[in-house]
Amino acid sequence: MKILMLCLGNICRSPTAESILRKKAMERKLDLFTDSAGTSGYHQGEASDSRSIHHAEKRGYAMTHRARQLTLSDFENFDLILAMDASNAVNARKLTKKSEHLQKIKLIGEFSKQRKIHEIPDPYYGQAADFELVIDLLEACIEGLLAHYQP
Ligand code: 4NP
Repeated sequence: MKILMLCLGNICRSPTAESILRKKAMERKLDLFTDSAGTSGYHQGEASDSRSIHHAEKRGYAMTHRARQLTLSDFENFDLILAMDASNAVNARKLTKKSEHLQKIKLIGEFSKQRKIHEIPDPYYGQAADFELVIDLLEACIEGLLAHYQP
Protein backbone atom coordinates (compact mmCIF):
# COMPACT_ATOMS: atom_id res chain seq x y z
CA MET A 1 0.00 0.00 0.00
CA LYS A 2 1.24 3.48 -0.92
CA ILE A 3 -0.02 6.47 1.05
CA LEU A 4 0.64 10.12 0.21
CA MET A 5 0.15 12.75 2.93
CA LEU A 6 -1.00 16.13 1.60
CA CYS A 7 -1.02 19.68 2.99
CA LEU A 8 -0.46 23.19 1.60
CA GLY A 9 3.25 23.92 1.95
CA ASN A 10 4.59 20.37 2.53
CA ILE A 11 6.88 21.68 5.26
CA CYS A 12 4.78 21.28 8.44
CA ARG A 13 1.79 18.91 8.61
CA SER A 14 2.23 16.40 5.79
CA PRO A 15 5.94 15.64 6.32
CA THR A 16 5.12 15.13 10.01
CA ALA A 17 2.27 12.78 9.07
CA GLU A 18 4.59 10.87 6.74
CA SER A 19 7.20 10.45 9.50
CA ILE A 20 4.65 9.27 12.06
CA LEU A 21 3.12 6.76 9.64
CA ARG A 22 6.54 5.44 8.57
CA LYS A 23 7.58 4.82 12.19
CA LYS A 24 4.30 3.21 13.24
CA ALA A 25 4.25 1.01 10.11
CA MET A 26 7.84 -0.12 10.73
CA GLU A 27 7.02 -0.96 14.35
CA ARG A 28 4.18 -3.15 13.07
CA LYS A 29 6.37 -4.60 10.28
CA LEU A 30 3.89 -3.46 7.63
CA ASP A 31 4.81 -3.30 3.95
CA LEU A 32 3.78 0.29 3.42
CA PHE A 33 5.30 3.12 1.38
CA THR A 34 4.62 6.70 2.41
CA ASP A 35 5.56 10.11 1.05
CA SER A 36 4.15 13.65 1.28
CA ALA A 37 3.44 16.61 -0.98
CA GLY A 38 1.90 20.07 -0.92
CA THR A 39 -0.82 21.53 -3.11
CA SER A 40 1.43 24.61 -3.48
CA GLY A 41 5.01 24.75 -4.72
CA TYR A 42 5.96 27.67 -2.44
CA HIS A 43 8.58 25.68 -0.56
CA GLN A 44 9.67 23.26 -3.33
CA GLY A 45 13.01 21.60 -2.45
CA GLU A 46 13.14 22.98 1.10
CA ALA A 47 13.67 20.94 4.26
CA SER A 48 10.69 20.80 6.62
CA ASP A 49 10.02 23.77 8.90
CA SER A 50 12.58 23.78 11.75
CA ARG A 51 9.74 23.92 14.31
CA SER A 52 8.11 20.80 12.85
CA ILE A 53 11.47 19.02 12.85
CA HIS A 54 12.11 20.01 16.47
CA HIS A 55 8.72 18.87 17.81
CA ALA A 56 8.61 15.66 15.75
CA GLU A 57 12.17 14.59 16.58
CA LYS A 58 11.53 15.24 20.28
CA ARG A 59 8.84 12.58 20.01
CA GLY A 60 10.98 10.11 18.09
CA TYR A 61 9.94 10.82 14.49
CA ALA A 62 12.72 11.33 11.92
CA MET A 63 12.11 14.26 9.56
CA THR A 64 14.14 14.07 6.34
CA HIS A 65 11.60 15.07 3.68
CA ARG A 66 12.21 17.76 1.03
CA ALA A 67 9.11 19.69 -0.01
CA ARG A 68 7.51 18.98 -3.36
CA GLN A 69 4.26 19.87 -5.11
CA LEU A 70 1.49 17.35 -5.77
CA THR A 71 1.45 16.19 -9.41
CA LEU A 72 -0.97 14.26 -11.58
CA SER A 73 1.35 11.23 -11.47
CA ASP A 74 0.77 10.99 -7.69
CA PHE A 75 -2.81 9.94 -8.46
CA GLU A 76 -1.40 6.97 -10.41
CA ASN A 77 1.42 6.11 -8.00
CA PHE A 78 -0.46 6.19 -4.68
CA ASP A 79 -3.42 4.18 -3.38
CA LEU A 80 -4.52 6.84 -0.94
CA ILE A 81 -4.00 10.62 -0.76
CA LEU A 82 -4.71 11.89 2.75
CA ALA A 83 -5.46 15.62 2.98
CA MET A 84 -4.81 17.47 6.24
CA ASP A 85 -7.75 19.85 5.70
CA ALA A 86 -10.68 20.40 3.39
CA SER A 87 -8.96 23.08 1.31
CA ASN A 88 -6.09 20.68 0.55
CA ALA A 89 -8.65 18.13 -0.66
CA VAL A 90 -10.46 20.75 -2.79
CA ASN A 91 -7.18 21.83 -4.40
CA ALA A 92 -6.14 18.22 -5.06
CA ARG A 93 -9.46 17.57 -6.82
CA LYS A 94 -8.69 20.39 -9.28
CA LEU A 95 -5.81 18.35 -10.75
CA THR A 96 -7.85 15.45 -12.11
CA LYS A 97 -11.31 14.52 -13.36
CA LYS A 98 -10.90 10.73 -13.25
CA SER A 99 -13.16 9.09 -10.68
CA GLU A 100 -10.52 6.44 -9.85
CA HIS A 101 -8.19 9.33 -8.93
CA LEU A 102 -10.78 11.35 -7.03
CA GLN A 103 -11.79 8.42 -4.84
CA LYS A 104 -8.21 8.16 -3.55
CA ILE A 105 -8.50 11.59 -1.85
CA LYS A 106 -9.66 11.43 1.77
CA LEU A 107 -9.41 13.64 4.85
CA ILE A 108 -6.97 12.12 7.34
CA GLY A 109 -9.32 13.13 10.20
CA GLU A 110 -11.83 10.52 8.97
CA PHE A 111 -9.59 7.79 10.38
CA SER A 112 -9.45 9.02 13.97
CA LYS A 113 -11.36 6.72 16.32
CA GLN A 114 -10.25 8.05 19.71
CA ARG A 115 -11.47 11.61 19.10
CA LYS A 116 -13.48 13.46 16.46
CA ILE A 117 -11.01 15.29 14.22
CA HIS A 118 -12.32 17.56 11.50
CA GLU A 119 -8.94 18.79 10.28
CA ILE A 120 -5.27 19.16 11.19
CA PRO A 121 -4.97 22.93 11.77
CA ASP A 122 -2.19 24.74 9.92
CA PRO A 123 0.51 25.57 12.56
CA TYR A 124 2.64 27.80 10.27
CA TYR A 125 1.68 31.08 11.94
CA GLY A 126 1.23 29.43 15.36
CA GLN A 127 3.19 28.69 18.51
CA ALA A 128 4.95 25.63 19.93
CA ALA A 129 1.62 24.32 21.30
CA ASP A 130 0.16 24.35 17.78
CA PHE A 131 2.99 22.14 16.52
CA GLU A 132 2.48 19.77 19.46
CA LEU A 133 -1.25 19.64 18.69
CA VAL A 134 -0.50 18.68 15.06
CA ILE A 135 1.45 15.66 16.34
CA ASP A 136 -1.25 14.68 18.89
CA LEU A 137 -3.96 14.81 16.22
CA LEU A 138 -1.87 12.99 13.62
CA GLU A 139 -0.99 10.20 16.06
CA ALA A 140 -4.70 9.63 16.72
CA CYS A 141 -5.53 9.63 12.98
CA ILE A 142 -2.64 7.32 12.07
CA GLU A 143 -3.45 4.82 14.84
CA GLY A 144 -6.97 4.72 13.39
CA LEU A 145 -5.66 4.43 9.83
CA LEU A 146 -3.46 1.44 10.72
CA ALA A 147 -6.29 -0.23 12.64
CA HIS A 148 -8.59 0.29 9.63
CA TYR A 149 -6.25 -1.40 7.15
CA GLN A 150 -4.63 -3.94 9.51
CA PRO A 151 -7.28 -4.76 12.15
P1 4NP B 1 1.81 23.12 5.90
O1 4NP B 1 1.98 24.58 6.54
O2 4NP B 1 0.75 23.26 4.83
O3 4NP B 1 1.39 22.28 7.04
O4 4NP B 1 3.18 22.76 5.32
C1 4NP B 1 2.22 25.73 5.79
C2 4NP B 1 3.50 26.02 5.39
C3 4NP B 1 3.75 27.18 4.67
C4 4NP B 1 2.71 28.02 4.34
C5 4NP B 1 1.41 27.72 4.74
C6 4NP B 1 1.17 26.57 5.46
N1 4NP B 1 2.97 29.22 3.64
O5 4NP B 1 2.02 30.00 3.43
O6 4NP B 1 4.11 29.47 3.23
